[in-house]
Amino acid sequence: MQNFELYNPVNYVFGKGQIEKLKNLVPENTKILIAYGGGSIFKNGVYDQVKAALSKSFKANHIVEFGGIEPNPRYETLMKAVAVIREEKIGFILAVGGGSVIDGVKFISAAVHYEGDAADILRKRILFKDVSQVIPFGTVLTLPATGSEMNSGAVVTIEATQEKLTLGGSALFPVFSIVDPTVITSLPKRQLQNGVIDAFTHVMEQYLTYPHDAMLQDRIAEGILQTLIEIGPDVVENPSDYKLASNFVWSATMALNGLIQKGVPSDWATHMIGHELTALYEIDHARTLAIIGPNLYRVMFDTKKEKLAQYGKRVWNLTGDSTEAIAEEAIEKTVAFFHTMGMKTKISENTDNYENTADFIVNRFEERGWKAMGEKQNITPEKVREIVEMSY
Ligand code: NZQ
Ligand code: ZN
Repeated sequence: MQNFELYNPVNYVFGKGQIEKLKNLVPENTKILIAYGGGSIFKNGVYDQVKAALSKSFKANHIVEFGGIEPNPRYETLMKAVAVIREEKIGFILAVGGGSVIDGVKFISAAVHYEGDAADILRKRILFKDVSQVIPFGTVLTLPATGSEMNSGAVVTIEATQEKLTLGGSALFPVFSIVDPTVITSLPKRQLQNGVIDAFTHVMEQYLTYPHDAMLQDRIAEGILQTLIEIGPDVVENPSDYKLASNFVWSATMALNGLIQKGVPSDWATHMIGHELTALYEIDHARTLAIIGPNLYRVMFDTKKEKLAQYGKRVWNLTGDSTEAIAEEAIEKTVAFFHTMGMKTKISENTDNYENTADFIVNRFEERGWKAMGEKQNITPEKVREIVEMSY
């Protein structure tokens, strides 16, 4: 097992009716900004629950609101919130929404005190390690998928240049996250499907590499995958079933709260390529992963086949003596599961005019110096081209 440090300071508050606890979690005598997305929180009652909880300890003039953070949050929109925070002297931000709102708030939190061009936070991948550099924030999660409620990473799109870039650092963990599984009942089926597949792929990025001796990490990863396979098809049909909802939400958090990546190699190239498909064509994040993931496993088969075979045996209960045959069948099982979950696994099924996609992505990665991705640093621009072209 590789050496590691495990640091995760998030106060994770889980369960029915927990939004009420906001009154004890948000710091007193501080002006707060409630940040949200396109308005789903007004329709499903989450906004009312948040306001009711806060009204017990806050005067109305201590709460400012900022709405309109888009799915795949835009730098340009977030900078407007940064101006509000500076103007209003906000001391704490409450993100109420899915991964996009939470990620947006992480960027806002980092940008307020940043001197210089805030786009450099994304372009130069500045790491935020000192909590005095950022505005503290908490979250009320409304969409299980990204794990953003319990990690310190975020993804933001610069609209002007169609760049989807990451930021992060240990100062960007939420102070707390309230995760009430009943909030998923108002999610459209498409978003529920996305949530399952995003969480599934997060595990795959940290698990589907090569055999190593971190036994517990493998077993936890396989447990999350099996749970998502077991509940995924049902939870999209019955999101008000609390057993399904609670297991889904917790699986999505566990998939990307840092635990399973400790002491093991990881890949993340499916995400790096997928982000480009969202930047170019606005394909939902999870749907880009369902397109790219299986083709990446095919192109990188020699690197991944032993782990693919382990995954096939332990997660899909495949049997046989041939590593190659089980590994290949495991990829087909994965694609079939993605189809069951409503994913369309070709770029051409998600957008028109995609012929130059591979050229565009390869050029962009070369400009950024991303010439050696994956757990063995052997996903070269040529491999990226092969993966993308196989995905047409
Ligand atoms: O904006 P509103 O009106 O709130 O509607 C949202 C949005 O349209 C809606 N929604 C959310 N909760 C709802 C709801 N509708 C009804 N009922 C509810 N309870 O769902 C739509 C999608 O929301 P969004 O936040 O965009 O989805 P998701 O949570 O999948 O986040 C996707 C973003 O997270 C990034 C992605 O790249 C993408 O930008 N990721 C962040 C990661 C991280 N921070 O660790 C890791 C991931 O790999 C991912 O890259
Ligand atoms: Zn993801």
